[in-house]
Amino acid sequence: MTFPADSLLRWYDRHRRRLPWRAEPGNAPDPYRVWLSEIMLQQTTVTVVIPYYERFIRRFPTINGLAAAPLDDVLSLWAGLGYYARARNLHACARAVVDAGGFPRDPAGLRALPGIGTYTATAIGAIAFDTPGVPVDGNVERVVARLFGVSKPLPSAKPALRMLADRLGADPIAIARPSDFAQALFDLGATVCTPATPACAICPWMQACTARRKGIVTDLPRRTMKKDRPLRLGVHFWLEDADGRVLLRRRDENGLLGGMAELPGTPWREAPWPRDEALAHAPMPADWRNAGQVRHGFTHLELHIDLFAARVRRIEADGFLHPIEHLADAALPSLMRKCARMASSAR
Ligand code: ADE
Repeated sequence: MTFPADSLLRWYDRHRRRLPWRAEPGNAPDPYRVWLSEIMLQQTTVTVVIPYYERFIRRFPTINGLAAAPLDDVLSLWAGLGYYARARNLHACARAVVDAGGFPRDPAGLRALPGIGTYTATAIGAIAFDTPGVPVDGNVERVVARLFGVSKPLPSAKPALRMLADRLGADPIAIARPSDFAQALFDLGATVCTPATPACAICPWMQACTARRKGIVTDLPRRTMKKDRPLRLGVHFWLEDADGRVLLRRRDENGLLGGMAELPGTPWREAPWPRDEALAHAPMPADWRNAGQVRHGFTHLELHIDLFAARVRRIEADGFLHPIEHLADAALPSLMRKCARMASSAR
């Protein structure tokens, strides 16, 4: 059996994903691109990020252009990605880096910059500068929990998983290639060691994997049952027009899902919404039909959303219209994706 770092890197050399911010083998990574992608990937998936990233790079091919641009230009390119504080920090960080004459190479220097925490500093340090260190995100936690068969539940298992990830990264073979090692872990988590249907048969760590040997792969990582999460109730409205567009609006900057897109709706509260009271929050009068219920768990609350749907010839309401065919491109949080799926299946 080869050592885990060795077999992972061999696998990565053959199966690495091509991502727009990723340097081709043999080319030096561009720290600006690595940083930009890591900021965009905080709380957002690779699929959603790619078109935003490409638009951003076309408009700002270098950090100097970004630093010199008005904040409003940056915010409008960011629109839809949510968490707008990230865009403000991005702009502030670009200015600080340009003033300093370049990115610091070490994680401590990176951490001192706006919008860069421990995880992002480790990721940028490793990916852009080959500084040894393993960035541990949710994907890496899953891979490590399975490889070592950690059955202690998250979140209390976090320190143990961090230590085990560090142990993997301390292998001399990993230390020789920190950038590839970090990205190989991301790729393994995203394409092979997936949450529900892991492809163990093609996994470079099949032999080494404790969870595989014990037959408990999809049981890991375990999570503490979220008991006593308060229940909140809301009503959201799927309103489409004759041109196949749906009405969306942007959530308030502050609070849960701040700044993200959503179907218009009521506030979320403890008490049920009688139909008449809910319809007072509808974006416009229409023939509103019940279109099902969506249940969604956040870390600290459980949400039940009743959906109402209607079609009108022309939408006259606050918000913006998005083609239903291209809803996949809208930066909708997963709760709203569930709602959109439910409403469009009831059309
Ligand atoms: N998730 C976080 N950072 C990533 C990266 N650089 N590549 C792929 N997935 C990631």
